[in-house]
Amino acid sequence: MIGRLLNKLRKSYSRRGLRGTVVHAINRASQRFLELTPTWRRSMREKAERDQAFDSRHGVDTGGIIQLNSLQIAGTSWQNGTSYWAIDPAVFARLVGTLAIHHQDFTFIDFGSGKGRAVLLASEFPFKSVIGVEFSPELDQVARENLAGFRSERQQCWDMRLVCADALQYPLPHDPLVCYFFNPFGREVMARVAERIAESYQTQSREIYILYANPQHAVVWQQNGCFQQIAATPDFAIFKTHD
Ligand SMILES: C[S@@+](CC[C@H](N)C(=O)[O-])C[C@H]1O[C@@H](n2cnc3c(N)ncnc32)[C@H](O)[C@@H]1O
Repeated sequence: MIGRLLNKLRKSYSRRGLRGTVVHAINRASQRFLELTPTWRRSMREKAERDQAFDSRHGVDTGGIIQLNSLQIAGTSWQNGTSYWAIDPAVFARLVGTLAIHHQDFTFIDFGSGKGRAVLLASEFPFKSVIGVEFSPELDQVARENLAGFRSERQQCWDMRLVCADALQYPLPHDPLVCYFFNPFGREVMARVAERIAESYQTQSREIYILYANPQHAVVWQQNGCFQQIAATPDFAIFKTHD
């Protein structure tokens, strides 16, 4: 057991350095502690019930929590990624419902689409097209099956596409965009993705909205001169390119 612990520490040290290893260990310990509390257990039970209700209503599999270190993902940016966990449909409806736009002009992109729940939910708005970008081939495959089996009376967009790629490599379309993030990665990757979106805007000026659910690194967008914040709630933040 001590041997395993030392091995883990050695690996973490070579990936994260000393400070990163200490911060990671503190985060893991506080997460473990949180998971023992009755409040956390109740919220997990309620999440499982909501997942089950969504999946059986729509004939899909989008529920659960999946740690990235249990998946086969090429490259190293998974170390900065968060676990798979699907958006609460009520939060998504509030977030996208806030936008006063002509949806038909916009392409919606989910950065870190996982099993595709947000792609499915976005198809219930009349977007020009909806794209999900996910770097785990296993999650991407589940999302493909979900798109094929999705049942919804409210669907208004049928141009749905999935791209199995790292968000850092994905070339942005030149349409007006709604870029959606459900806390998919840490600050470092978020800053690089924000930079890519800003560069794309500078190459081709157009309306770009950033919808950020569970906005843990909102500061990245606040500090990027290309965007202004137009909404802030505890559940999400919205940014837009300057008029
Ligand atoms: C919290 S889940 C969000 C799932 C989905 N967007 C939703 O709203 O239901 C975050 C997802 O981002 C993916 N992810 C993390 N880093 C990524 C990256 N660099 N490129 C592509 N996908 C990434 C993870 O694999 C995971 O599926």
